[in-house]
Amino acid sequence: MSEEYLFLRACRREEVERTPVWLMRQAGRYMAAYQKVRAEHSFLEMCKNPKLAVQVTLQPVERLGVDAAILFSDILVLVEAMGMKLEFHEGLGPRLHEPVRSLEGVEKLRVPDAEKELGYVMEAIKLAREKLRGRVPLIGFSGAPFTLASYIIEGQGSRSFRFTKEMMFSQPETFHALMEKIADAVIDYLNAQIHAGAQALQIFDSWVGCLAPEDYERYVLPHMQRIFASLDARGEVPVIHFANQAATFLEKVRAAGGDVIGVDWRIPLDEAWRRVGYDVAIQGNLDPMALFAPLEEIERRVRDILAKAESRPGHIFNLGHGVHKDTPEEKVVALVRMVKELSAR
Ligand code: CP3
Repeated sequence: MSEEYLFLRACRREEVERTPVWLMRQAGRYMAAYQKVRAEHSFLEMCKNPKLAVQVTLQPVERLGVDAAILFSDILVLVEAMGMKLEFHEGLGPRLHEPVRSLEGVEKLRVPDAEKELGYVMEAIKLAREKLRGRVPLIGFSGAPFTLASYIIEGQGSRSFRFTKEMMFSQPETFHALMEKIADAVIDYLNAQIHAGAQALQIFDSWVGCLAPEDYERYVLPHMQRIFASLDARGEVPVIHFANQAATFLEKVRAAGGDVIGVDWRIPLDEAWRRVGYDVAIQGNLDPMALFAPLEEIERRVRDILAKAESRPGHIFNLGHGVHKDTPEEKVVALVRMVKELSAR
């Protein structure tokens, strides 16, 4: 059946009648229907209750008409299952208690059995497949080891990645041990999602762009390669590798693996595709802030990205990062409609 899905066909670089489109953070606070559910429940409660998670997963499919659903969850639920206490505070973002800064700390972290300890995610995937009834495919996801390590070490988001880089540069064995443990957890988590029914996967390396190319190569790339080599049903379930702010070392991101390379807006799409090679698909790359511009300006930018893709099989339209929470909802609706109309072959 999957052969009929525009999105999955594009992931495999097959010819499509128009460019498929979905948006990172398509389920979220910019949408009134989301706010309504969120007013009654905390964010983590929504992640852990499969009925609520699925309700919100479906909202952008219905409101925007996107070509794929992405499971409503968060990359940090895996870190919680590894043994850290996780909290989300209004306006503050995620907080993890007792950040890990030593080998003893790394040794205390567990590699969870995702099937059991993240059973609510697997249940949500099964329920989402049921409710989607084949309308669009379902994307599962995980954070990449570097991005998860940065939260584990910093205990929160960071601008400087001071503690992460301190560990990397002064206790490289400890850092590698942490990356290895996270990679083990990610592999089991993503394989469990495949078995639960995820039809594609995205790995988010949201903060890896803080690294110099040679540090990416030394500290990140081998762990990423092991993940891509260890996923079940490769070929069957395409994997999108999104490395944010990584334009200076895109070739290395490509070498790390993935059927689709996700790119941000800091590099023109044509240049990115040329550099990763036309034997992988590409996803991107409208600046999410462009959605605050007038419709004519959004359209100009959509046309530009589509022109740069040259109707070559294997382009999936997306933003270069997640939808901003203050984005006018009608602009997001208009964007999806525009991509569909302007990309018709
Ligand atoms: O894309 C989707 O629609 C699926 C849902 C999704 C969420 N988070 C929902 C969410 C996905 C794929 C994520 C992944 C995620 N979480 C990433 C990687 C993607 C990226 O943006 O780079 C990261 C870095 C996180 C960690 C995280 N979770 C942050 C930094 C925040 C924002 C904190 C804030 O207040 O702005 C979250 C919370 C979060 N994740 C929200 C949503 C809808 C907002 C929660 C709320 O309603 O208050």
